[in-house]
Amino acid sequence: MEKDIPLKTTLEVARQKKACTVAGRALERLSGIIRPGITTMDIDGICREFIETNGGRPSLYGYRNYPGNVCTSVNNVAAHGIPGNYALRDGDLITVDLTVELDGWHGDTAWTFAVGKIDEDSTRLLRAAWNTTMKAIAATKAGIRMGDIGNNIARTAQRFGCSVLDSFVGHGIGHDMHEEPMVLNSGEPGTGVPIVPGMVVTIEPILCLGNPEVQVLEDGWTIVTRDSSRCAQFEHTIAIFSNRTETLTNTRGEDTLRLDFPPFV
Ligand code: MF3
Ligand code: CO
Ligand code: CO
Repeated sequence: MEKDIPLKTTLEVARQKKACTVAGRALERLSGIIRPGITTMDIDGICREFIETNGGRPSLYGYRNYPGNVCTSVNNVAAHGIPGNYALRDGDLITVDLTVELDGWHGDTAWTFAVGKIDEDSTRLLRAAWNTTMKAIAATKAGIRMGDIGNNIARTAQRFGCSVLDSFVGHGIGHDMHEEPMVLNSGEPGTGVPIVPGMVVTIEPILCLGNPEVQVLEDGWTIVTRDSSRCAQFEHTIAIFSNRTETLTNTRGEDTLRLDFPPFV
């Protein structure tokens, strides 16, 4: 199994980081732009322009015939929301998930934004999603196993009274957007694929406030929770070295990876 995992050299990770940085900056830029009235299509266009201006390609476009440049998933949409003419409203949550290809390397990151003033449950969900991703990243290092990461994710979400959508997984990423290994969002400590230096993977648990069952809408893409509960997701691309783990898509400085960094105000 492990032999199918494309490991990266330090030099290759440095190259991949360029794609990851453009992806991270695109999302960072949205925080000043997302507000009531803006449409998901506007957000799509802003991201595409930013990515292309910075020498990259929004690699979701055309991926398995996906029609958007980014995914814009609002409220009960768990993933793969297609940008359209929906105008954001006060109190909405929107997750923007985007991938960038640059010089043959991919970066993948997602962020949930609060639109205007959100209610208490949405705030709890955002805090839960943020904590779950940040704790899992902090725990990921060479020498542990995939089950340790999955268990860490499931436990943090549970502590906040939220569910993890376990039909979704993280993934290796490199020359391809999706590579081995799968990064499960649940698992037993001490089991699964060993985490070794040279791995580049995403951590991307999707959390919801209710039941984690989902269904696909007729467009073949949009995935919603069956009980219409809201979702939130923070995704980063991370690289594992022998002595440290680097969050390649984080552009906001090391100290913003803290648990108390409020990404939603
Ligand atoms: N960026 C998503 C991920 O985190 C992939 C979206 S797949 C698409 O893996 F098909 F919707 F484009
Ligand atoms: Co993604
Ligand atoms: Co991903």
